Amino acid sequence: MRLQGKVAIITGAGTGIGEAIAHKFAREGARLVLSGLPADPVRDVTEAIKGAGGQAVPYLGDLAEEQHARACVELALDNFGSLDVLVSNAGIFIASAETDAYRIEDFDRTIRNNIRTAFLMTKFALPHLRKSRGNIVYTGSEAGMNGSPMFTPYGGSKAFLHAFMKGVALEQAPYGVRANCVCPGAIDTAWTRGTDSPIDPAAQATIGAMIPLGRRGTPEEIANIFAFLASDEASYVTGALWLADGGITPAKNDIGTRVPDALRREPKGVLNLKHSHDGLHGKDVYRAPPVLVP
Ligand SMILES: NC(=O)c1ccc[n+]([C@@H]2O[C@H](COP(=O)([O-])OP(=O)(O)OC[C@H]3O[C@@H](n4cnc5c(N)ncnc54)[C@H](O)[C@@H]3O)[C@@H](O)[C@H]2O)c1
Repeated sequence: MRLQGKVAIITGAGTGIGEAIAHKFAREGARLVLSGLPADPVRDVTEAIKGAGGQAVPYLGDLAEEQHARACVELALDNFGSLDVLVSNAGIFIASAETDAYRIEDFDRTIRNNIRTAFLMTKFALPHLRKSRGNIVYTGSEAGMNGSPMFTPYGGSKAFLHAFMKGVALEQAPYGVRANCVCPGAIDTAWTRGTDSPIDPAAQATIGAMIPLGRRGTPEEIANIFAFLASDEASYVTGALWLADGGITPAKNDIGTRVPDALRREPKGVLNLKHSHDGLHGKDVYRAPPVLVP
């Protein structure tokens, strides 16, 4: 029970990686505020956790709005009396287009949902994390290190988070507050698989070929890292970018094609996840028509 008695807020907790973090933290003994947009299945995840004997309350609202970010933090204090961990995981990935064809409204949405949410939640959580000597774990991305063709604003938004996290870690260390960032590669959520994804189906089918481990990661594989970084076991870790990308960052060719099928299977895991591929439901996703390089 790595997180026994700790109070954690998880943003974007209704689907995908956030749902897995919620279940993982509950199994590790944390008391949870689970937050997401009003249409996200946050209540369903909350009920599943309570049904398994965990403690969780939902917060539904747009965390890019000041009053919602503030109220989400207040909910943790009202319910549990303190705050130990902020998992800043909410984000969107809603467009694919070369940069000149990338719609300005999609750029603005990316900045708002990926950056403003993290800033506001950090701002309102910090005074309480100082009291508990708590910590923040952000969801960054391999794309924030390497850039992301066809998704350039998305990669840029994650690079912002990496630098933001490091600044927070340095600034808050004297108060005993840690900050770290998990940087996933292609994870098996609505973003990389299925009709809601902005990645076109042909590219989805070949994702594994680029990855040395030959496959996407699972939400649970990412949640396991959050549980460690948020726990006291990681007491000497701050300002760190923790890459979990199946090796794609140093990869130089289509090495994933050499991985035998038996090794490409995703581990089953132990968490009971129901919304891994629901994150983009109802969201306006834009896929630009393919461009032929002359
Ligand atoms: N799936 C991947 O391949 C991948 C790779 C690298 C990083 N990530 C990061 O992991 C995180 C989770 O992504 P996912 O793949 O689980 O996708 P997801 O869509 O399932 O989860 C993101 C959740 O955040 C919520 N959200 C977005 N904006 C919000 C806002 N303003 N207020 C409240 N909730 C909001 C969404 O509604 C959604 O439920 C994101 O930060 C993403 O950048 C994902």
